[in-house]
Amino acid sequence: MFETLKEQPADKILMLMQAYREDPREQKIDLGVGVYKDASGNTPVMRAIKAAEKQLWERETTKTYTGLAGDPVFADAMVDLVLGDAVPRENVAAAATPGGTGAVRQGFDMIRMANRKARIFVSDPTWPNHLSILKHMDMEVVTYRYFDAETRGVDFVGMIADLHQVLPGDVVLLHGCCHNPTGANLNISQWKAVADLLLEKEGTPMIDIAYQGFGDGLDADAAGVRLMASKMPECLIAASCSKNFGIYRERTGLLMAVSRDAGAKKLNQGTLNYLNRQNFSFPPDHGARLVGMVLTDPELRADWMAELEEVRLSMLGLREQLASELQRLSGSDRFGFLAQHRGMFSRLGATPEQVETLRSKHGIYMVGDSRLNIAGLNSATVPVLAEAIVKSGI
Ligand code: LMR
Repeated sequence: MFETLKEQPADKILMLMQAYREDPREQKIDLGVGVYKDASGNTPVMRAIKAAEKQLWERETTKTYTGLAGDPVFADAMVDLVLGDAVPRENVAAAATPGGTGAVRQGFDMIRMANRKARIFVSDPTWPNHLSILKHMDMEVVTYRYFDAETRGVDFVGMIADLHQVLPGDVVLLHGCCHNPTGANLNISQWKAVADLLLEKEGTPMIDIAYQGFGDGLDADAAGVRLMASKMPECLIAASCSKNFGIYRERTGLLMAVSRDAGAKKLNQGTLNYLNRQNFSFPPDHGARLVGMVLTDPELRADWMAELEEVRLSMLGLREQLASELQRLSGSDRFGFLAQHRGMFSRLGATPEQVETLRSKHGIYMVGDSRLNIAGLNSATVPVLAEAIVKSGI
C-alpha cells in the first residue's frame, strides 16, 4: 500500500542544519535554523528553567494525565504574558500544544472546522512551514506583499493594497513580532491600520508569536497582538515558548482564541480541547509546567526576564556591529537595515547563488532566501561574515 506514497520535499531549514553538522571545516559559521546561541555557540538551558526543573523533580508526585487543554497554571500565565490586560481573561479560550508549530497547526484546524472555504492570507515571504502545513491541509493560501526588497523594510502600501482582497470569513496570518524570515516588522500605527482594515473587511487575524522578548522587549513585542486582540471581535494567537524560554525540544506552545463573550469562549474552549484529543490527546506537560513555574514565581520570573534581556541585547549588539562593519568595508549605508531589523532573523537580500558562494567558499550557512540568524554570530565572527558578504558582491 505504501508504495503509492510520493516522496515529500525535505524541509530546507532542517536540511541546512544537517549539512552544517556534516561540514568538516573548522571555521564554519551556522546562521541557519532559528535557535539562539551564545557567544561560544552553545544553546544554554536558561537559569530559571534549570532551577524550576530541579524544584519540579523534588515536588512532582505524579505523571498522570493533565486536562486536554494542559496545565491551567501554564495557560493563565501565558495568556497574561502575551495579552497583558488587553482583554478580560474570561474571553480567552486556550490550550497547550506541542510547541508553537502545534499551536499553528491546531489554529488552522480550528479555522477549517469553522469555515472550509476560509482563505489564509500569508505574508510574502513567511516561515516556510506555514506554507507547508497549509498545503498539507489543503487550505487555500493567498499571499500579501510584505517585504520591500529594495529598502528591506515592510512594503506597507503593498500589504494594505493586497489585504483589500480579504473577504468575510478569510483569515490573515500575521507575525506578532520579529518577522520570520525578514526581520522587518510593523510599527504600532501600522498594526492599527491593519486592524481597522480587517474590521472593515470582516476578516479574522491569526497571529503567530514565536519570539516575544527577542525584539524590543516582552511588552513592546506583544503590543501588536494586544492591539488586535482588543479591537477585533475574534482573534487566534499561536504562542511559542521554544525560543524565549529556550526549551525547544520540550515542545511547549499555547493556542489562544479570543472572543467577545462567555458563550463564544465556551464553544472555542470545547473546540480546542476536542482538537487536542483528535490530534494527540494530551499536550506535552514538562515544558509547560516549567514555564508556569517560572512565570508565577517572582524570583524565577525576575531571573528569566533578566536572562532574556541579556539575550535580546546581545543580538542587538551583534546587529549593530555587523551593520557598522559592513558600512566600513563597503563604504555604503546599504546594510543599515540590519540594525533596524528586530529578532533573530534578517533577510540579507542576496541571490541564491551568492548564498551558495557564502556556503561553499566561506563555510557560512544561511537559508537559501538569504535569511541569516544573527544569534549564530559572535563578535569574532561578525567581521568574517562582513568580509565574505562584501567579497561575494552582495
Ligand atoms: C526557524 O524558522 O528556523 C525555526 O522556527 C525553527 C523551525 O522549526 O523551522
